[in-house]
Amino acid sequence: MKIAVIGANGQLGTDIVRAFAQNGDDVCALTHADIEIADLDSVSRKLQELRPQIVVNTAAMHHVERCEQAPETAYAVNALGPRNLALAAREIDAVLMQISTDYVFDGEKRSPYEEGDPPRPLNVYGNTKLSGEYFVQSTTPKHCVLRTSALYGKAPCRAKGGLNFVELMLKLAKERGEVRVVDSEVVTPTSTRELARQVVALSRSDAYGLYHATAEGSCSWFEFAREIFALTNTRIKLNVADPKEFPAKVPRPSYSVLENRALKNRGLNVFRLWQEGLREYLGITVR
Ligand SMILES: NC(=O)c1ccc[n+]([C@@H]2O[C@H](COP(=O)([O-])OP(=O)(O)OC[C@H]3O[C@@H](n4cnc5c(N)ncnc54)[C@H](OP(=O)(O)O)[C@@H]3O)[C@@H](O)[C@H]2O)c1
Repeated sequence: MKIAVIGANGQLGTDIVRAFAQNGDDVCALTHADIEIADLDSVSRKLQELRPQIVVNTAAMHHVERCEQAPETAYAVNALGPRNLALAAREIDAVLMQISTDYVFDGEKRSPYEEGDPPRPLNVYGNTKLSGEYFVQSTTPKHCVLRTSALYGKAPCRAKGGLNFVELMLKLAKERGEVRVVDSEVVTPTSTRELARQVVALSRSDAYGLYHATAEGSCSWFEFAREIFALTNTRIKLNVADPKEFPAKVPRPSYSVLENRALKNRGLNVFRLWQEGLREYLGITVR
């Protein structure tokens, strides 16, 4: 199959390109220099030229604070971008696989969110990503929207820069006698390698629709840090931080655990417990 991956040099895009290539597919790895998703002409031209059977969009403006400061740009990239891709994919009869986020929810539920739960984003990022979902769903029937959470991968996250949470914890542990992490935000850390495997598995079906796509289980950032230090035998004083130590400039859901209900119902869920994905990332087990 011919697959176009957008955001190909990003944290997730890098692993998706690799996973499709390992699967023997013909992968067109598109970076921001190759395509501007906010521009319909750029999108149409590139997809008409390549004519892939599947388009995977990982590109987004997802730095939450920057989205709040520049809502028009966030809307252009996160909402109109997927719309442009959906229009162009429909023209060439390609399937569009759009990556979305747990931040479409408000975190009030306190038990894992299923695909049928009503979204209620708390910030510009979540709102614009949700608009992107709606544009995709209303523009082309041949789509899969995958909502995921708390990604970490070997390639750096380009939007956020710096280290992912795992590498940051290991660095802080080397530099400091104590690490303090908040216990008040519950997520499901999801390895980009696992999510990439899920994207490939789903691409082999014609099961279109909305999917929650995260590792199994959940934890607070504090519990995530504790597991990182336990698996790497890192001896460090780890303490719970008062949320006031790291005041959030933008509201975020304090609970954004997703249940992969639709994937499971269709027998397509490939995710394991988040601790397994972390072990694989750390090189403790290899699948
Ligand atoms: N990271 C997380 O924890 C997380 C959690 C839930 C959902 N998500 C979603 O997962 C997806 C992938 O995240 P990631 O961590 O892999 O992000 P990333 O490392 O920042 O990669 C994003 C990629 O998209 C490209 N891009 C950005 N704007 C573009 C545009 N207007 N047109 C074309 N390409 C553009 C970037 O290129 P440049 O850097 O050159 O601009 C980069 O290659 C995003 O859709 C995000 O909303 C992420």
